[in-house]
Amino acid sequence: MVREIDWPNNYGDPEWFVHDRFGLFIHFGLYSVAARHEWGMTLEEQSLAEYQKYFEVFEPDLLKPEEWAKKAKDIGFKYVVITVKHHDGFALWDTAFSEYNITNTPYGKDLLSELVSAFKNEGIRIGFYYSLLDWQRADFLVDGYHPERNNLEYIEAHPGNMLTYQQFMKDQITELLTNYGEIDYLWFDFSYPSRDWGNSVGKGRDDWDSENLEKLILTLQPQIIINDRLDLHRGVGTPEQYQRSGGMEKNGKELIWESCQTLNGSWGYDRNNLDWKSSETIIKLLVDNVSKNGNMLLNVGPNGRGEWDKTSLDILNGVQTWMNYHSQAIYGCGSSPYKAPLDCRFTQKGNRLYLHLFSWPYRTVLLDGLGGKIQFARLLSDGSEIQFKDSKTITGIRPSYKDLRKEITEVNIKESLDPASVVLNLPIQKPFENVPVIELILKEEL
Ligand code: GLC
Repeated sequence: MVREIDWPNNYGDPEWFVHDRFGLFIHFGLYSVAARHEWGMTLEEQSLAEYQKYFEVFEPDLLKPEEWAKKAKDIGFKYVVITVKHHDGFALWDTAFSEYNITNTPYGKDLLSELVSAFKNEGIRIGFYYSLLDWQRADFLVDGYHPERNNLEYIEAHPGNMLTYQQFMKDQITELLTNYGEIDYLWFDFSYPSRDWGNSVGKGRDDWDSENLEKLILTLQPQIIINDRLDLHRGVGTPEQYQRSGGMEKNGKELIWESCQTLNGSWGYDRNNLDWKSSETIIKLLVDNVSKNGNMLLNVGPNGRGEWDKTSLDILNGVQTWMNYHSQAIYGCGSSPYKAPLDCRFTQKGNRLYLHLFSWPYRTVLLDGLGGKIQFARLLSDGSEIQFKDSKTITGIRPSYKDLRKEITEVNIKESLDPASVVLNLPIQKPFENVPVIELILKEEL
């Protein structure tokens, strides 16, 4: 089935992105030391002077870029998006345009260049997250999200100059797209033009000079893809921490999209937050997105010493085990024209149709519209055959004694069958994996 995609024709080719489906988001910066959510600075209305204490002790001594990259590869991530600068303005690279960067902390090195080469060595594509907000810059106009929003003295002394701020962003983006080789994805965060706090308003395309920023990016790296948060109403759609009821579209054309998800509700390391999702939930979120033609960007917030904490690793290990056996039902897959039964999702790639069973049923699954179309069915985890019958071949005749077990199922379900449906016969016991998948090989490619 050919679908029309809504994609800006001056942007790079998003084919790799649509194929890869599964990306790793990394939120790492000074807030990882505070360990109370990456918005801690503004939630607690900390001044820059107070926040400086994190800068002074930023020494992620256990951070091994190769280990992050290797683990990402093992889990099955195909691309990474790294927070090169978050809202606090702290830069993870050796920028010539701000002293507020990692080389001036005790860590003392350009972490970004280490990460980029480690991830590239593992064959993982590179994305940069760049915050449009910047609470460190004196020229960034204070608004209702700013940590100093209630400090009149600060506000009076900093009337803001978004023109010089725009130039600063262009300089930093130029640096990022010049000094780190080919970059696949630029992830801006975020626009909020409709916010109105009474004494200040939100910011959007005119404040960022988005049109010209975008032009600059495409001149520097024409192959790049960009997300949709520059307030230009184009680019990769980025629903945040919720699941969509269907794909994304605009004017009848499909949008390319990726939902971003956390492991515990926070992006930055948040020590006391215990709202962890299980591996099973994460796998279901990923499958659900792919079944709707979307990607998932899954976040890890390394701690102040540069390690992925144990709980995150436990969850991710569960995802890794599942991916080891089921990644072919994710990579290169998208939605299916067939309607999945209740509590299931379909993903499809050519004539391979993958049935993801979110809850394990009792002995049978009915698949509508697939009668006569399945060549072979198997449980993906161990390749074992799943027997099935096209509904029109089910007789409903009282079984002979020796066939009793098999035939009872058939007789009981016959009444409700559509002639074009298929009945899969499943084992009573749910297989070991979190989300079992049945691979249906269809007779002809669609
Ligand atoms: C939000 C938050 C931010 C986080 C991002 C990830 O917009 O401001 O902290 O980095 O979402 O999507």
